[in-house]
Amino acid sequence: MIAIQDLTFTYKNGKTPALQDICLSVPSGGFLGIIGPAGAGKTTLLRAITGVIPHHYTGDFYGSVHVNGMDTVDTSLDRLSGITGMVFQDVESQIIFPTVEDEILYGLENFGVPREEIPLRISEALHKVGIPDLLERSIASLSGGQRQKVAIASILALKPQVLVLDEPTGELDPGSSRQIFTILKELNEEGVTIVLVEQKIMLLCEFAKDLAVLDGGHVVLQGETRKVLTQVEKLQSVGVNCPRVTTLSHLLTERIGRQQPVCVNLDEAERMVRGLMK
Ligand SMILES: Nc1ncnc2c1ncn2[C@@H]1O[C@H](COP(=O)(O)OP(=O)(O)OP(=O)(O)O)[C@@H](O)[C@H]1O
Ligand SMILES: [Mg+2]
Repeated sequence: MIAIQDLTFTYKNGKTPALQDICLSVPSGGFLGIIGPAGAGKTTLLRAITGVIPHHYTGDFYGSVHVNGMDTVDTSLDRLSGITGMVFQDVESQIIFPTVEDEILYGLENFGVPREEIPLRISEALHKVGIPDLLERSIASLSGGQRQKVAIASILALKPQVLVLDEPTGELDPGSSRQIFTILKELNEEGVTIVLVEQKIMLLCEFAKDLAVLDGGHVVLQGETRKVLTQVEKLQSVGVNCPRVTTLSHLLTERIGRQQPVCVNLDEAERMVRGLMK
């Protein structure tokens, strides 16, 4: 479980707080999606959850962040990273080794995974993201999308209890993006807590149980995904466009004057339209 209480954080070289008065909780096994405009504080919030704020990125830190009961300020980054794995927004800064195998191996060795378990962990992680054939490839020979999958695989191999991902599908085509979300859903069903920043709003709304909307360092909306999606005007005011199927259900509610269900995927929109045509 992640519990954030009155968190305000200003980077050491920052003039204003990047996060302000954040109160947010994610239950164990939760799946929280975070959205908001550029500079809203999404990455900063993920850094606070993993503990790199305040351990690596220093600054003024007020309030508290607890992950599985541990206060991130009092707990070492080593201990915290045994629980939480993070896929960075900037894949290039995440990958440090010249080959795919070395990249995944490094984390496993670092976390003391027994030698005999390592080959299976690597192969499972690569299979999960659909790139088993890239094991021996050099990173330099990979496309942006392939690198993104390597970064995700290297974190999955560590089997974190909490998985934090910062725009993990930025370099991926729609098919691969859905594949990643499907993997995240499976992991979530196995009990892994997921916190994810994502621009692909339609995918996010289909998979995330809860949403938090950030703007200017504040959480301006939070709650169950469908409930948050009913706040169309508020979302638009911070520059977040609802998925088109959701907008359709809102428009129909307005035009017909009868509440339509909030749709988050095409199947639901089809059902709603068929219901209306009856
Ligand atoms: N390392 C840093 N040092 C100082 N200020 C930072 C640092 N990283 C981010 N900031 C500032 O904190 C604020 C929030 O940035 P953050 O990167 O968290 O936003 P974001 O919502 O992730 O944006 P984006 O959508 O562009 O990824 C911004 O004003 C940014 O300039
Ligand atoms: Mg960011």
